[in-house]
Amino acid sequence: MVMERVLVRASGLVKHFQDRKRGRVEAVRGISFEAMAGEIFGLLGPNGAGKTTALRMLATILTPTDGTATINGCDVRSDPDGARRSLGFLSGDTGLYGRLSAREMITYFGRLYGLDDNRLNNRVDELGDKLDMGDFFERRCAKLSTGQKQKVSIARTVVHDPPVLILDEPTAGLDVLASRNIVTFIRAARQEGKCVILSTHDMGEAERLCDRIGIIHNGILAAVGSKAELFERYRTSDLEAVFLRAVGETA
Ligand SMILES: Nc1ncnc2c1ncn2[C@@H]1O[C@H](COP(=O)(O)OP(=O)(O)OP(=O)(O)O)[C@@H](O)[C@H]1O
Ligand SMILES: [Mg+2]
Repeated sequence: MVMERVLVRASGLVKHFQDRKRGRVEAVRGISFEAMAGEIFGLLGPNGAGKTTALRMLATILTPTDGTATINGCDVRSDPDGARRSLGFLSGDTGLYGRLSAREMITYFGRLYGLDDNRLNNRVDELGDKLDMGDFFERRCAKLSTGQKQKVSIARTVVHDPPVLILDEPTAGLDVLASRNIVTFIRAARQEGKCVILSTHDMGEAERLCDRIGIIHNGILAAVGSKAELFERYRTSDLEAVFLRAVGETA
Protein backbone atom coordinates (compact mmCIF):
# COMPACT_ATOMS: atom_id res chain seq x y z
CA MET A 1 0.00 0.00 0.00
CA VAL A 2 1.65 3.22 -1.10
CA MET A 3 0.34 6.38 0.50
CA GLU A 4 2.30 9.58 0.49
CA ARG A 5 1.05 10.69 3.85
CA VAL A 6 3.66 11.99 6.29
CA LEU A 7 3.05 10.42 9.70
CA VAL A 8 6.32 11.33 11.38
CA ARG A 9 8.22 14.56 10.85
CA ALA A 10 11.37 15.33 12.83
CA SER A 11 12.45 18.96 12.51
CA GLY A 12 15.88 19.87 13.80
CA LEU A 13 15.73 17.64 16.86
CA VAL A 14 18.49 18.35 19.39
CA LYS A 15 19.11 16.77 22.78
CA HIS A 16 21.83 17.72 25.21
CA PHE A 17 22.30 15.94 28.53
CA GLN A 18 24.08 17.38 31.52
CA ASP A 19 26.28 14.58 32.81
CA ARG A 20 28.07 14.88 36.12
CA LYS A 21 31.26 13.27 34.83
CA ARG A 22 31.23 14.06 31.12
CA GLY A 23 29.75 17.56 31.33
CA ARG A 24 27.45 18.44 28.44
CA VAL A 25 26.72 15.47 26.20
CA GLU A 26 25.37 16.40 22.76
CA ALA A 27 23.55 13.15 22.11
CA VAL A 28 21.46 14.42 19.17
CA ARG A 29 22.66 17.47 17.26
CA GLY A 30 19.94 18.36 14.77
CA ILE A 31 18.01 15.56 13.11
CA SER A 32 15.34 16.12 10.44
CA PHE A 33 13.49 13.55 8.37
CA GLU A 34 10.02 12.53 7.28
CA ALA A 35 8.46 9.09 7.28
CA MET A 36 5.28 8.12 5.49
CA ALA A 37 2.33 5.84 6.03
CA GLY A 38 3.13 2.37 4.69
CA GLU A 39 6.85 2.83 5.16
CA ILE A 40 9.55 1.33 7.35
CA PHE A 41 12.17 3.95 8.17
CA GLY A 42 15.36 2.70 9.81
CA LEU A 43 17.81 4.66 11.91
CA LEU A 44 21.08 2.81 11.41
CA GLY A 45 24.05 3.74 13.53
CA PRO A 46 26.77 2.51 15.89
CA ASN A 47 26.54 2.36 19.67
CA GLY A 48 26.17 5.80 21.16
CA ALA A 49 25.15 7.42 17.85
CA GLY A 50 21.98 8.89 19.34
CA LYS A 51 19.36 6.42 18.05
CA THR A 52 17.60 5.76 21.35
CA THR A 53 17.70 9.45 22.30
CA ALA A 54 16.14 10.43 18.97
CA LEU A 55 13.41 7.79 19.28
CA ARG A 56 12.65 8.79 22.86
CA MET A 57 12.06 12.38 21.72
CA LEU A 58 9.70 11.15 18.98
CA ALA A 59 7.89 9.05 21.58
CA THR A 60 7.49 12.07 23.94
CA ILE A 61 9.56 10.38 26.67
CA LEU A 62 12.22 13.11 26.41
CA THR A 63 11.66 16.79 25.70
CA PRO A 64 13.91 18.09 22.92
CA THR A 65 16.55 20.68 23.84
CA ASP A 66 15.73 22.27 20.49
CA GLY A 67 13.65 21.47 17.43
CA THR A 68 10.48 19.42 17.48
CA ALA A 69 8.61 16.58 15.82
CA THR A 70 5.07 15.74 14.82
CA ILE A 71 3.42 12.34 15.06
CA ASN A 72 0.30 12.01 12.89
CA GLY A 73 0.14 15.81 12.84
CA CYS A 74 0.43 16.21 16.63
CA ASP A 75 3.40 18.24 17.86
CA VAL A 76 5.33 16.36 20.56
CA ARG A 77 5.89 19.62 22.47
CA SER A 78 2.49 21.29 22.30
CA ASP A 79 0.30 18.17 22.02
CA PRO A 80 2.16 15.26 23.63
CA ASP A 81 -1.11 13.50 24.53
CA GLY A 82 -2.24 13.57 20.92
CA ALA A 83 1.14 12.30 19.78
CA ARG A 84 1.04 9.49 22.37
CA ARG A 85 -2.37 8.31 21.22
CA SER A 86 -0.98 7.94 17.70
CA LEU A 87 2.15 5.99 18.56
CA GLY A 88 3.40 2.83 20.20
CA PHE A 89 6.94 2.84 21.57
CA LEU A 90 9.03 -0.25 22.17
CA SER A 91 12.25 0.36 24.05
CA GLY A 92 14.83 -1.90 25.62
CA ASP A 93 13.39 -1.19 29.05
CA THR A 94 9.73 -1.75 28.17
CA GLY A 95 8.75 -3.49 31.40
CA LEU A 96 6.48 -6.45 32.01
CA TYR A 97 4.86 -7.46 35.29
CA GLY A 98 6.19 -10.86 36.21
CA ARG A 99 3.05 -11.99 38.01
CA LEU A 100 0.72 -11.35 35.05
CA SER A 101 0.35 -13.81 32.19
CA ALA A 102 1.20 -12.63 28.68
CA ARG A 103 -2.51 -12.30 27.92
CA GLU A 104 -3.21 -10.38 31.16
CA MET A 105 -0.27 -8.07 30.53
CA ILE A 106 -1.46 -7.05 27.06
CA THR A 107 -5.06 -6.71 28.29
CA TYR A 108 -3.90 -4.53 31.17
CA PHE A 109 -2.23 -2.08 28.79
CA GLY A 110 -5.23 -2.09 26.49
CA ARG A 111 -7.39 -0.96 29.44
CA LEU A 112 -4.92 1.85 30.17
CA TYR A 113 -5.54 3.02 26.60
CA GLY A 114 -9.27 2.96 27.28
CA LEU A 115 -10.24 0.11 24.95
CA ASP A 116 -13.60 -1.43 25.86
CA ASP A 117 -13.57 -5.07 26.93
CA ASN A 118 -15.17 -6.50 23.83
CA ARG A 119 -12.85 -4.84 21.38
CA LEU A 120 -9.91 -5.47 23.66
CA ASN A 121 -10.47 -9.23 23.90
CA ASN A 122 -10.59 -9.49 20.12
CA ARG A 123 -7.49 -7.39 19.76
CA VAL A 124 -5.55 -9.43 22.32
CA ASP A 125 -6.50 -12.69 20.56
CA GLU A 126 -5.48 -11.18 17.23
CA LEU A 127 -2.07 -10.15 18.60
CA GLY A 128 -1.61 -13.59 20.17
CA ASP A 129 -2.09 -15.11 16.71
CA LYS A 130 -0.03 -12.59 14.78
CA LEU A 131 2.96 -12.89 17.08
CA ASP A 132 2.58 -16.63 17.46
CA MET A 133 2.24 -16.55 21.24
CA GLY A 134 -0.16 -19.47 21.53
CA ASP A 135 2.05 -21.81 23.50
CA PHE A 136 2.96 -19.28 26.19
CA PHE A 137 0.02 -16.89 26.15
CA GLU A 138 -1.32 -18.00 29.53
CA ARG A 139 2.10 -18.28 31.18
CA ARG A 140 3.37 -15.70 33.67
CA CYS A 141 5.73 -13.11 32.17
CA ALA A 142 8.38 -13.91 34.81
CA LYS A 143 8.76 -17.38 33.30
CA LEU A 144 9.14 -16.32 29.67
CA SER A 145 12.33 -16.39 27.59
CA THR A 146 13.87 -13.21 26.17
CA GLY A 147 12.26 -13.75 22.77
CA GLN A 148 8.87 -14.52 24.28
CA LYS A 149 9.07 -11.42 26.47
CA GLN A 150 9.93 -9.31 23.44
CA LYS A 151 6.78 -10.51 21.69
CA VAL A 152 4.67 -9.58 24.72
CA SER A 153 6.39 -6.18 24.83
CA ILE A 154 5.62 -5.56 21.16
CA ALA A 155 2.01 -6.63 21.63
CA ARG A 156 1.57 -4.29 24.59
CA THR A 157 3.17 -1.49 22.53
CA VAL A 158 0.64 -1.82 19.69
CA VAL A 159 -2.47 -2.94 21.57
CA HIS A 160 -4.26 0.38 20.81
CA ASP A 161 -3.50 -0.08 17.09
CA PRO A 162 -1.65 3.23 16.58
CA PRO A 163 -0.71 4.48 13.08
CA VAL A 164 2.94 5.00 14.11
CA LEU A 165 5.23 2.33 15.60
CA ILE A 166 8.54 3.41 17.11
CA LEU A 167 10.70 0.37 17.79
CA ASP A 168 14.13 0.62 19.40
CA GLU A 169 16.13 -2.40 18.24
CA PRO A 170 13.13 -4.70 18.04
CA THR A 171 15.08 -7.87 17.25
CA ALA A 172 18.24 -7.34 19.32
CA GLY A 173 19.25 -10.48 21.17
CA LEU A 174 16.66 -12.74 19.55
CA ASP A 175 17.21 -16.04 17.77
CA VAL A 176 16.50 -16.46 14.07
CA LEU A 177 12.94 -17.73 14.54
CA ALA A 178 11.80 -15.15 17.06
CA SER A 179 13.41 -12.38 15.07
CA ARG A 180 11.82 -13.60 11.84
CA ASN A 181 8.42 -13.62 13.47
CA ILE A 182 8.88 -10.02 14.58
CA VAL A 183 10.13 -9.00 11.15
CA THR A 184 6.98 -10.56 9.63
CA PHE A 185 4.89 -8.62 12.13
CA ILE A 186 6.62 -5.35 11.18
CA ARG A 187 6.10 -6.03 7.47
CA ALA A 188 2.42 -6.75 8.09
CA ALA A 189 2.16 -3.41 9.90
CA ARG A 190 3.61 -1.68 6.84
CA GLN A 191 1.12 -3.51 4.65
CA GLU A 192 -1.68 -2.11 6.85
CA GLY A 193 -0.38 1.39 6.15
CA LYS A 194 1.41 1.99 9.44
CA CYS A 195 4.54 4.07 9.63
CA VAL A 196 7.31 2.14 11.38
CA ILE A 197 10.43 3.87 12.68
CA LEU A 198 13.01 1.46 13.98
CA SER A 199 16.61 1.61 15.10
CA THR A 200 19.26 -0.99 14.49
CA HIS A 201 22.99 -1.39 14.17
CA ASP A 202 22.49 -4.50 12.07
CA MET A 203 23.27 -3.71 8.42
CA GLY A 204 21.60 -6.86 7.14
CA GLU A 205 18.41 -6.17 9.01
CA ALA A 206 18.33 -2.56 7.83
CA GLU A 207 18.90 -3.67 4.26
CA ARG A 208 16.23 -6.40 4.31
CA LEU A 209 13.57 -4.56 6.22
CA CYS A 210 13.74 -0.81 5.65
CA ASP A 211 12.28 1.17 2.77
CA ARG A 212 14.37 4.18 3.70
CA ILE A 213 17.38 4.43 5.93
CA GLY A 214 18.88 7.29 7.92
CA ILE A 215 22.49 6.71 8.85
CA ILE A 216 23.10 8.32 12.21
CA HIS A 217 26.53 9.05 13.61
CA ASN A 218 27.59 11.36 16.42
CA GLY A 219 24.06 12.69 16.77
CA ILE A 220 23.50 13.75 13.17
CA LEU A 221 22.08 12.08 10.07
CA ALA A 222 25.07 11.47 7.83
CA ALA A 223 22.81 10.31 4.97
CA VAL A 224 19.13 9.61 4.35
CA GLY A 225 17.45 7.84 1.47
CA SER A 226 16.09 4.66 -0.02
CA LYS A 227 18.62 1.89 -0.52
CA ALA A 228 18.68 2.65 -4.24
CA GLU A 229 19.32 6.34 -3.57
CA LEU A 230 22.09 5.62 -1.09
CA PHE A 231 23.73 3.06 -3.39
CA GLU A 232 23.70 5.56 -6.22
CA ARG A 233 24.97 8.48 -4.16
CA TYR A 234 27.90 6.48 -2.76
CA ARG A 235 28.50 4.47 -5.94
CA THR A 236 28.28 1.06 -4.35
CA SER A 237 25.71 -1.68 -3.86
CA ASP A 238 26.84 -2.54 -0.37
CA LEU A 239 25.17 -0.92 2.61
CA GLU A 240 28.27 -1.37 4.74
CA ALA A 241 30.29 0.64 2.22
CA VAL A 242 27.59 3.33 2.21
CA PHE A 243 27.72 3.38 5.98
CA LEU A 244 31.49 3.70 6.17
CA ARG A 245 31.59 6.46 3.56
CA ALA A 246 28.71 8.41 5.10
CA VAL A 247 30.23 8.14 8.54
CA GLY A 248 33.67 9.02 7.17
CA GLU A 249 32.30 12.26 5.77
CA THR A 250 31.11 13.38 9.18
CA ALA A 251 33.93 11.93 11.30
N1 LIG B 1 20.42 10.31 30.35
C1 LIG B 1 21.62 10.52 29.80
N2 LIG B 1 22.54 11.29 30.44
C2 LIG B 1 23.75 11.51 29.88
N3 LIG B 1 24.14 11.04 28.67
C3 LIG B 1 23.27 10.27 27.99
C4 LIG B 1 21.96 9.97 28.52
N4 LIG B 1 21.31 9.19 27.62
C5 LIG B 1 22.17 9.00 26.60
N5 LIG B 1 23.34 9.65 26.81
C6 LIG B 1 24.50 9.71 25.90
O1 LIG B 1 24.04 10.13 24.63
C7 LIG B 1 24.75 9.46 23.60
C8 LIG B 1 23.74 8.77 22.68
O2 LIG B 1 23.13 7.71 23.38
P1 LIG B 1 21.98 6.82 22.76
O3 LIG B 1 21.50 5.92 23.83
O4 LIG B 1 20.98 7.70 22.12
O5 LIG B 1 22.75 6.01 21.63
P2 LIG B 1 22.30 4.77 20.73
O6 LIG B 1 22.56 5.16 19.32
O7 LIG B 1 20.93 4.36 21.10
O8 LIG B 1 23.35 3.64 21.14
P3 LIG B 1 23.17 2.04 21.29
O9 LIG B 1 23.33 1.45 19.92
O10 LIG B 1 24.31 1.66 22.18
O11 LIG B 1 21.83 1.76 21.89
C9 LIG B 1 25.73 8.52 24.28
O12 LIG B 1 26.96 9.19 24.36
C10 LIG B 1 25.12 8.34 25.66
O13 LIG B 1 26.12 8.07 26.62
MG1 LIG C 1 20.10 2.61 21.86
